Amino acid sequence: MNFFKPFALERFFAEHEFSARYLLCSSDCESFPVRELLAMERDSIDGLLDLRLGYTETRGAPELRMAIAAQYGGLGVSDIFVHAGAEEAILNLFLAELSPGDTVIVNFPCYQSLAEIPRALGCRVVPWELRRIADGGKERWALDPDELPALVGEPSPAGDPASGPGFVPPKMIVLNAPHNPTGALPTREEFEAVVAYARRWGAVLLVDEVYRRLERDPARRLPAACEAYENGVSLDVLSKHAGLAGLRIGWLASRRRDILDRVAQVKDYNSICSSAPSELLAGIAVRNLERIAARNRGIAAKNLALLDAFFRERPGFASWTLPEGSSIGFPRLNCGADAEALAVKLVREAGVLLLPGAYYAYDAAFFRVGYGRANMPEALARLGRWLDDGGWPGLIDGGRETAAGAGGAPAANASPGLGAEAGSRGA
Ligand SMILES: Cc1ncc(COP(=O)(O)O)c(C=O)c1O
Repeated sequence: MNFFKPFALERFFAEHEFSARYLLCSSDCESFPVRELLAMERDSIDGLLDLRLGYTETRGAPELRMAIAAQYGGLGVSDIFVHAGAEEAILNLFLAELSPGDTVIVNFPCYQSLAEIPRALGCRVVPWELRRIADGGKERWALDPDELPALVGEPSPAGDPASGPGFVPPKMIVLNAPHNPTGALPTREEFEAVVAYARRWGAVLLVDEVYRRLERDPARRLPAACEAYENGVSLDVLSKHAGLAGLRIGWLASRRRDILDRVAQVKDYNSICSSAPSELLAGIAVRNLERIAARNRGIAAKNLALLDAFFRERPGFASWTLPEGSSIGFPRLNCGADAEALAVKLVREAGVLLLPGAYYAYDAAFFRVGYGRANMPEALARLGRWLDDGGWPGLIDGGRETAAGAGGAPAANASPGLGAEAGSRGA
């Protein structure tokens, strides 16, 4: 059965995640034990011990959905649908809403299921590419909403766009913000432009918000899609900002109850309902989410500064565009074009795992780093020692050489640094 192409990234992690000593590319934040979670609420231990292990409601235990609804302005319990992780929610939503021939715009690069499931369902998947742009003297990854009409092939403004030959208006727009793998975060204006474009066609806007709450500047947090747009669907999960991937609890939030009704029909054919103990524990986590996410933002902020200093110190090795949110970033090798060869040698010799950009069907010189884990400084130090010891052939002085050095990057490619101003580097 070849319905889906293999999920490249998940296959890569399946091979290395539990054997590599240091994961320098994990996307989830630091986890913590059940004991610590239970300590966040009184009587929680008895609540867990007395829990009956029957089925729960398909859409999630009402108490959990109530706690999740309270995370959004203007939404109620009926607007929330709990799933076994974000991944099940993505599958169920696409199965419920998409048909062959539908046009689906998906940001690129992306977490593979966001584009692969629509493709497998026979949709016309239109990749919308993030680019590095110079903005206010700094560089950032960005999507340009002005590209959307041409991307989907709208006829010129002179014609009636809806009736152009062969033109199929978008049924769904899929964004991931903050973004995996670049850490990009649209500005408020860009986000509103996407909402306006979706509204023009009545398209559903799915925003994968699993890295929300991990903005570098919390003031830049975007409204959730379900708050900002009547056809908006927000996807969230406790895996990333809360570091609780083992609970496998995610959710869809939307005011489009008809969509959630159709999702319910799909869920009857896979998990039926979520795990009762996980739902109970997830309720505690959601009620304490701001506190948990704030702790992980703190870890991420410290690690981000270390990583940024690392890349600035070693421009011959790699450089990056600072992530604006999430717990991951997407640097580019300046010492060769094959991040996979580097990753394989690095994990074998130093036990440190990086994720090659090729697993996103992207330029093979890029790779993903993760900075949400508490042991990231140790992993980074090991990478540094490996480079210093000549682990990667051709690098002089562990990559500290500049443009003039062997294999060095043009100095202009180096990161502008946290808070520093960049030169006039183009897109
Ligand atoms: C953007 C994005 N969406 C969804 C998921 C799936 O999340 P989960 O594994 O918690 O189901 C991931 C996991 O890495 C992700 O990065």
